[in-house]
Amino acid sequence: MDLEFRLGEPHDLSALADMEAAEDTARYLTVTGIAWHEKAFDDPDQEHTVAEVDGVPVGYALLAGLAGPEEPDRAIEIRRMVLRPEWRGAGRGRAVLQAAVTRADKVHKAGRVWLRVKPQNARGRKLFLSEGFVEDHVENNVFREPDGSYSDLIVMTQTFGPA
Ligand SMILES: CC(C)(COP(=O)(O)OP(=O)(O)OC[C@H]1O[C@@H](n2cnc3c(N)ncnc32)[C@H](O)[C@@H]1OP(=O)(O)O)[C@@H](O)C(=O)NCCC(=O)NCCS
Repeated sequence: MDLEFRLGEPHDLSALADMEAAEDTARYLTVTGIAWHEKAFDDPDQEHTVAEVDGVPVGYALLAGLAGPEEPDRAIEIRRMVLRPEWRGAGRGRAVLQAAVTRADKVHKAGRVWLRVKPQNARGRKLFLSEGFVEDHVENNVFREPDGSYSDLIVMTQTFGPA
């Protein structure tokens, strides 16, 4: 795989927000825009991992829940992951997810990871299921879309076994 991973830096934030702008990306997300990323970056509870090809950012994952104590049942959220559309469909999204899960497990000592995905996000759901996540429950009508409708979000989790 041609991806390289590093932690996000302030100069990345506009590029990360830009990755979300396409319609076939934004509709699978909740709040988008650079202010959301600036707030995340300034929050010690959160961490961006940037995926690059030849030094150019092509995707990222955002972890949250890092400020809590390192307990055996510590839950870390994969709050968002995105791959630029032109880089999708060749296993790179899977590689970004695996990098985020591995970091939550090995660096942040999570007992489990979790995320929320929209029901219509067939691609994301297939990817998460194939990587060992299970659908835990549905949060009904929790996100207000730009058109005023409300989306459900499916909560998916993956619990790590003993090391
Ligand atoms: C989710 C995302 C990161 C996945 O990246 P990707 O490069 O497309 O993912 P991969 O190619 O590694 O794997 C995707 C899997 O979904 C499958 N898939 C592709 N298109 C699909 C579709 N329309 N419906 C169902 N499954 C689909 C692929 O076949 C692949 O499974 P496989 O490896 O068993 O063949 C990327 O599509 C993305 O950025 N989407 C928009 C943002 C988003 O939805 N983020 C997650 C929010 S929770």
